[in-house]
Amino acid sequence: MKIAVLAGDGIGPEIITQGVRVLTALKSDGLKIELESGLLGGCAVDSAADPFPEVTCKLVNEADAVLLGAVGGPQYDALPRSKRPEQGLLRIRKALNLFANLRPAILYPELANASTLKPEVVAGLDIMIVRELTGDIYFGEPRGIEQRDNQRVGYNTMIYSETEIRRIAHVAFQTARKRNRKLCSVDKMNVLECTQLWRDVVTETANEYPDVTLSHMLVDNAAMQLIRDPKQFDVMVTGNMFGDILSDEASMLTGSIGMLPSASLDQNNKGLFEPSHGSAPDIAGKNVANPLATILSVAMMLRYTFNQEEAALRIENSVKKVLSKNYRTRDIFGQGMTLVGTIEMGDAVLEAL
Ligand code: IPM
Ligand code: MG
Repeated sequence: MKIAVLAGDGIGPEIITQGVRVLTALKSDGLKIELESGLLGGCAVDSAADPFPEVTCKLVNEADAVLLGAVGGPQYDALPRSKRPEQGLLRIRKALNLFANLRPAILYPELANASTLKPEVVAGLDIMIVRELTGDIYFGEPRGIEQRDNQRVGYNTMIYSETEIRRIAHVAFQTARKRNRKLCSVDKMNVLECTQLWRDVVTETANEYPDVTLSHMLVDNAAMQLIRDPKQFDVMVTGNMFGDILSDEASMLTGSIGMLPSASLDQNNKGLFEPSHGSAPDIAGKNVANPLATILSVAMMLRYTFNQEEAALRIENSVKKVLSKNYRTRDIFGQGMTLVGTIEMGDAVLEAL
């Protein structure tokens, strides 16, 4: 298992260190793991003037999977668009054809009080958002800002081919099949042609999955329903931009984005695995960031790319054990709990492992 490790910026290096400790522990238990580090995002801009340098491209192409921390920081905000850390993320997704982004939102019973929603609304929550990741308005052409009739206009193109929609629909139906067999497809077909096609193609694809119950929802309603009654959902599938927004919303149902891993997969389950949260520059270098989303991303890597279900469960059970022992980083801290830092949380997971 060749794994490229891209720590990135902000809290990235601290949380990745803990993820790598978990991988190293599994390696000493016999898993054949090889790790190699590279630069992506702001750190790559600093050292190579490019958020996704050629060497990193080569490294991730040769790897079987990528473990990523987070990218970005305020010091890069003023750079031209092509030099911003986020471009590194968008380019690596495109370069590896990582079209399927899986973002689970699971509420651990121990953290029921961390949510801003009433416990009865979120208790037992377990949603999987399947977000298309290499198309839509994120990559559509033409795009730009230009002068028209003596004023500036900005424009982007929302575009999906039926091939792109069909392949993400298959991933979503297959994901639902392994869960509670309920899939909700989210679009804006009452206004946008692009998403009318989305609805049509998802509906056609459903013929191949008679065992999965498909429903459709408009994105504005879906945003509302996620807050009103999130447990009505099992798997949700949507395009790149709606998925970006809805997955942040869903993550906060669970109380802390610091708990949520993610997987971005290509057609062959090669993938990039990263915490759902960002680089949190305000707390970088202070040993307070929650490393659990990264550690859970390692579990997703073992499950989805390497088919090591047992090792994945071992990691997930270790995280549960640590939570049940009341260890908490600052973001999930509550009364009567033991406050720990990034490293101490890593220690606790390793001990449980
Ligand atoms: C995400 C992020 C990225 C996105 C940004 C950083 C480019 O918000 O992974 O959700 O919009 O996809
Ligand atoms: Mg986002």
